[in-house]
Formats: sequence, C-alpha cells, structure tokens
Amino acid sequence: MAILATVAVLTVALAATVRAADDATGNPLQAQIDHGKSTYASKCSHCHGPNMMNSGTITPDLRAFPDDKTRFVTTVKNGKNNKMPPWGDILSEDEIGDLWAFVASRRKP
Ligand code: HEC
Repeated sequence: MAILATVAVLTVALAATVRAADDATGNPLQAQIDHGKSTYASKCSHCHGPNMMNSGTITPDLRAFPDDKTRFVTTVKNGKNNKMPPWGDILSEDEIGDLWAFVASRRKP
C-alpha cells in the first residue's frame, strides 16, 4: 500500500514537472497562451485569420470578443449558426481554456 502511494505521489510530481517544463518563462499563464496560440494556428486561423480577424469574411474580430469566458467556451464547444463549427468532440476542456487565454491576451483595449 505504501509503495502504491509513493508511486502515485511521484506520478503527480512528474506530471507537474512536465507541465512546468512546457513553460519557458516559468509563468503558467504564458504556457497556456503559447499552447492556445498553436491550437489556434492549426484549428481556427484558416477561418478567423492568423491575427484573429479576417476582413471581408463573416468571421468576427476575436480581439473584440467580450471578456466572457463562458460565452467563448460555449460557442467553441457547440459552434454557432451552422457557420462556426463545433469543437466539443475535438478539443479538450484544457485546450479550449488555453485558446481562451490566447484570445484574451490579444484583446483590444
Ligand atoms: C469553418 C470556419 C471556422 C473555423 C474553423 C472556426 N470558426 Fe469561429 N466562427 C466562424 C464563423 C463564420 C463565426 C460567426 C458565426 C456567426 O456569428 O454566425 C465564428 C464565430 C466565432 C466566435 C464568436 C462567437 C460568439 O459568441 O459571438 C468565436 C469566439 C469563435 N468563432 C472562435 C473560434 C475558435 C477558438 C476556433 C478554433 C477552435 C474557431 N472559431 C474556428 C467560423 C469558423
């Protein structure tokens, strides 16, 4: 039993180390932003534009998206108006949270 507990503790510690190593700056928010940025580039930028806006299309400027994480997560999971595709089956809760960190970091003042 004690051995199992030790293994469990070590596993958790190791996972924490791996996550911290993701983050070159030692700032967990920055790690989320960086991860969100790469997810955005592969999953979102072809519609929303590399810079969060794609003028001349119906996609909204994401830099102007309100400071409303719940609305963001809901739309990204479920899609919108059959134009914005749903991502709930493709992206994890964490990945969507990281996308939010990235979008929020680019919000227009
Ligand atoms: C196939 C093109 C396409 C892709 C890919 C796409 N979107 Fe969209 N997205 C749209 C369109 C079109 C709208 C506008 C929908 C509307 O308002 O009718 C939209 C709207 C949105 C909105 C605004 C929702 C609101 O509540 O007003 C957010 C936020 C958003 N997209 C985020 C994302 C994110 C994050 C990704 C990547 C995971 C992504 N989109 C991928 C086309 C796309």
